[in-house]
Amino acid sequence: MSLYPLIRPFAFVLDAERAHRLTIQALKLVPPHRPPDLPESLRTQVAGLDFLSPVGLAAGFDKDAEVPEQMLSLGFGFVEVGTLTPRPQEGNAKPRLFRLREDQAVINRMGFNNRGQASAFDRLQQCSHSRGIIGVNIGANKESADRIADYANGVRAMAGVADFLTINISSPNTPGLRQLQDEGALGELLSAVREARPPKGPPIFLKVAPDLGEGEPDQIVRVALQYGIDGLIVANTTVSRQQLKSPLAGEQGGLSGAPLKPLALKALRDFRAASGGELPLIGVGGIATADDAWERIRAGATLVQLYTAMVYEGPGLAHRIALGLAQRLEREGFASISEAVGSAA
Ligand SMILES: Cc1cc2nc3c(=O)[nH]c(=O)nc-3n(C[C@H](O)[C@H](O)[C@H](O)COP(=O)(O)O)c2cc1C
Repeated sequence: MSLYPLIRPFAFVLDAERAHRLTIQALKLVPPHRPPDLPESLRTQVAGLDFLSPVGLAAGFDKDAEVPEQMLSLGFGFVEVGTLTPRPQEGNAKPRLFRLREDQAVINRMGFNNRGQASAFDRLQQCSHSRGIIGVNIGANKESADRIADYANGVRAMAGVADFLTINISSPNTPGLRQLQDEGALGELLSAVREARPPKGPPIFLKVAPDLGEGEPDQIVRVALQYGIDGLIVANTTVSRQQLKSPLAGEQGGLSGAPLKPLALKALRDFRAASGGELPLIGVGGIATADDAWERIRAGATLVQLYTAMVYEGPGLAHRIALGLAQRLEREGFASISEAVGSAA
């Protein structure tokens, strides 16, 4: 039985960022162990990597790569650490993380607070990388005069310790960052990133926003294919606000969790239509149950990720969702996840 329902009331009395910090500190005390066994049907290959489960931890929970192995031990098939910027930075003024309990949501305007790539590199070098896939999400410093150079430097700096790299240009909390999704800027960025990737370097994913205009998914897919990007992570948090009940709904920042679900699913469908299955897609945003994950896979996601639902349900959620996916595969007559990908697209 999960202990999380017992612990949650205490964690929820604390300020959200403090509770998060204490959670990371507590996880650091847990020695990494063998992840729980999972059915063979959940095994899947993406961009040459072998995933034991398609359910991953989204970026932002373990920004500084402090507990990736512990999260794998808890049942995540893969963990994305970061966002890490070349130089350490403080992020925005506190408070900057808000739980919207009535909406099963979170708003954050952290602003890429992190201790920088060099310190994470050292920690990742100590990881065994044998318990599952560890990806590294990279970003640009807020005050950087050349953001594209920050991404290229990040690729060079972190390629040696990452099973995959994610180029994050979709955070709403670094002013102007999302403009790198515009076709011209994106071409320039991805060309620099490709050049920076060492020979035989890790696959590179691009993480996009759910708030895109008509035609933008087509443009992004075109440029991503042109520069050999290995997959798209759809999507980051949204700046939109729809029918929220919580008194904190007016806080600025990116919204995640249940209210993001329809938007992230629509964005995934748009990217699947734009790519016709030619680019692996990773579905993220508001996934809280096996049914949510299953819907995303049937709509075209090869892998899924979550973060906010874990705040409400505890870290055992990833394993429960994975087992639920295996049941759905069996029930609907699919031998593996890859057979089910896009089966309702
Ligand atoms: C507190 C918080 C911090 C986040 N930080 C990052 C980040 O540094 N980089 C990133 O790419 N996404 C970040 N995200 C976005 C998540 O990775 C994910 O895309 C988004 O929350 C939607 O998934 P969810 O509804 O399951 O949380 C953050 C999300 C939250 C809630």
